[in-house]
Amino acid sequence: MSLKGKHMLCTQDWSIDELIQVLELAQDMKKERWTEKYARILDRRTFFMFFYNPSVRTRQSFEAAATELGGHAQFLEPKSMRLKTAKTAGETVEDAANVMSRYACGIGIRILEDKIPAYGEGQKLCEEYAKYSKVPIVSMAHDKFHPCQGLADMQGLWQHMGRENVKGKKLLQVWGHGALARSWCSVQESILISSRFGMDVTLAYPEGYDLDPEVIEMTKKNCRDNGANFEISHDPVECYDGAHVVYSRNWMHPDAYHDGELHKAEEIERAMKYTDWICDEEKMKRTENALFTHPMPIDRGHEVTDAVASGPRSIIYDVAENRLHVQKALMALTMGNM
Ligand code: CP
Repeated sequence: MSLKGKHMLCTQDWSIDELIQVLELAQDMKKERWTEKYARILDRRTFFMFFYNPSVRTRQSFEAAATELGGHAQFLEPKSMRLKTAKTAGETVEDAANVMSRYACGIGIRILEDKIPAYGEGQKLCEEYAKYSKVPIVSMAHDKFHPCQGLADMQGLWQHMGRENVKGKKLLQVWGHGALARSWCSVQESILISSRFGMDVTLAYPEGYDLDPEVIEMTKKNCRDNGANFEISHDPVECYDGAHVVYSRNWMHPDAYHDGELHKAEEIERAMKYTDWICDEEKMKRTENALFTHPMPIDRGHEVTDAVASGPRSIIYDVAENRLHVQKALMALTMGNM
């Protein structure tokens, strides 16, 4: 099926067959990385990477992806673009998106954390670009979702568990304390895509750290549709029982945004009190020899100990590498000469 021109703001917006198409192509692109097979798919085309927030993996992997497909990725920042905001006059999204579409084969957007006044505003901006753009908009992580990370996570599970063994396994998506006040995007994407692929999902966090209720409802429905279980735990130890995959990650409290901004220092002070919420070797012993995964950057010593993050069951670097392969596949299918 043709995926040409499709936006990617969340994996939930795509059918399971479309996601499998991306993952299968990503697997082949990984195998054929240094052959000519996919080397001209983006011949002479430019992908715009529009970053409101910093990045290591996303910028580097998109840039490498465009190069490996024979194209180019251009880094853009809002401060160099004179855009209209709530506080300043400037160019509208309608105009910017239409003009950018005349130059680029696709536009990636990252907007998170302190660059939005309230949860949901990053999603609104991505949707506005998607409304006016004539080329695919790809979320490179916004406040709500991180689809490229979700795809890379799933490719990592295929790689380490076997594609046919993912269904029915328990994913423990567990909160970790930390000093980074992280957006909800990676964890929300993770519980959505893993439940689409039939995994049992246990979401564990201290009382009060609830995620977006709409995303929880979608995850529950995915689980029901795929014969999987969904549960919420507030126990930082027992939640590990029987897990096959442990994904430990901080996320911010729903009260972190108030009065039109993110109160980061307040959130860090609140989160750092929950010192029991760390993934360590003792807790990992309660699992079924679980894989450890994390989207990175890791807040070592808070979200997870060094012994687990750098241990034999950690797949963090493979998952980080997979960002390259899934983004190549996504770009090829939505923007390229496939
Ligand atoms: N996982 C991820 O998106 O990493 P960066 O923030 O470094 O891009």
